[in-house]
Amino acid sequence: MAATAVAHPNIALVKYWGKAPEGDNVPAVGSLSITLGGLTTRTRVRFDPGLAGDRFRLDGVEDGAAARRVSRCLDRVRDRLGVRIHAEVSSRNDFPTAAGLASSASGFAALVTAAEAALGGGLDPAERADLARRCSGSAARSIFGGFVELRPTPGGPRPTETRQILAPDEWPLEVVIAVTASGPKATGSTEGMRLTERTSPYHAEWVRLSPAHLDEARRAVLGRDFEALAAIAEHSCLAMHAVMLSARPGLIYWNGATVACLHRVRELRGRGVPVFFTVDAGPQVKAVCLPEAVPAVREALGAVPGVEALLHSGLGGGAEVVE
Ligand code: PMV
Repeated sequence: MAATAVAHPNIALVKYWGKAPEGDNVPAVGSLSITLGGLTTRTRVRFDPGLAGDRFRLDGVEDGAAARRVSRCLDRVRDRLGVRIHAEVSSRNDFPTAAGLASSASGFAALVTAAEAALGGGLDPAERADLARRCSGSAARSIFGGFVELRPTPGGPRPTETRQILAPDEWPLEVVIAVTASGPKATGSTEGMRLTERTSPYHAEWVRLSPAHLDEARRAVLGRDFEALAAIAEHSCLAMHAVMLSARPGLIYWNGATVACLHRVRELRGRGVPVFFTVDAGPQVKAVCLPEAVPAVREALGAVPGVEALLHSGLGGGAEVVE
């Protein structure tokens, strides 16, 4: 009753921000992401009838707050498969956990995949994605590789559907991540979403426009149209941050170096370098580019004052059982 799975973080190009009123962590909006092959979470789950409770270690250290979230996620897998046994979970990230790089997405995708395999569940990826989505919205997307779309499907067989729309080798984009500050983020995503839903005058409009954003991005991806994808991805990112900023009190996830990086990326693209930016609920800037642009992007972002480190990744595959 043990299995090990690996999964990779993903970065949304059309952003998820806001939860549907029906609860159960169903997103209010669809999203479209790329899965990053160069960063990996590896998680081992061992179910043991002798355990009195679940146990969780991250990078070798017991973590109480995270353990409760892990336990709640295991409950969803156990409920789905009709099992009542506790588990010992150990997880490792080969990238800095504190750097705000969506480690919860790869973490919960790997956890659900390993737990389900350890229990011999036989669930298909779409079903695993819906389980992972209940643990962390963006985790559903890390079940799949390449370009991935997640949509709320009210009235469907499941509350959400997640699917791959293009495999990683069908359009091998690259991502350079400029780390502008380490340490935990100021306001976690769930708390930030709730505040925004309650107080932003623009939130309803954000939800209303979301299907059009998704259609535009899906068309750009399927047509491998970099300019079109750059336009809609930067728009979705800036529109999400506009909604965050318009909450009361406004959520300011950026620092000065974040903004300087956005300007650098725009300058590069103005000179013909195929690159665009996206930023999540934190200060790091993700620059998405065509492979030939990587050296220029690294050089430009590395020279921005306040950039502490650069990470680099190509696209990768979905969560899989390795042991
Ligand atoms: O899955 P969560 O709760 O970490 O929320 C993710 C929110 C964003 O990263 C800001 C956007 C996204 O779609 O990943």
